Amino acid sequence: MKKVITYGTYDLFHKGHYNLLKHAKELGDYLIVAVTSDAFDKARGKLNVKDSLVQRIKNVENTGLADEIIVEEYFGQKIDDIKKHDIDVFVMGDDWEGKFDYLKEYCEVVYLPRTKGISTTKIKDDLKDKL
Ligand code: CTP
Repeated sequence: MKKVITYGTYDLFHKGHYNLLKHAKELGDYLIVAVTSDAFDKARGKLNVKDSLVQRIKNVENTGLADEIIVEEYFGQKIDDIKKHDIDVFVMGDDWEGKFDYLKEYCEVVYLPRTKGISTTKIKDDLKDKL
């Protein structure tokens, strides 16, 4: 069985997230989605996340694409996850191109094209303009 893993915050879940998960799932037989904890997002400087962890997990769950959902809680967890879950393919959107090449030692690393014109940041900016 080919196992795929991908990581994200998935705040204000949108079509770009859905497309990424769909394409990631197509790369194997079993998809694990790691959702960042609130504390981990803060630690890596990602402030102003709107949805709670529970909500963000629920949104990923609702896609029906994830076979398993885990939480990313610390720097260095990716290597531990890949080993622990016996991962074959690590997937991220191509805004991360090159940033995870160090994981090639452990599994295949694939950067998928991002869906154009949508992001959590853009949704927040658009909302701001309306208020
Ligand atoms: N992603 C994508 N296409 C988009 C937006 C995100 O393929 N238009 C992918 C990212 O590349 C990543 C995953 O979805 O692999 C989760 O991304 P995340 O950072 O949670 O979402 P963004 O919308 O990029 O959030 P932000 O604007 O806060 O960076």
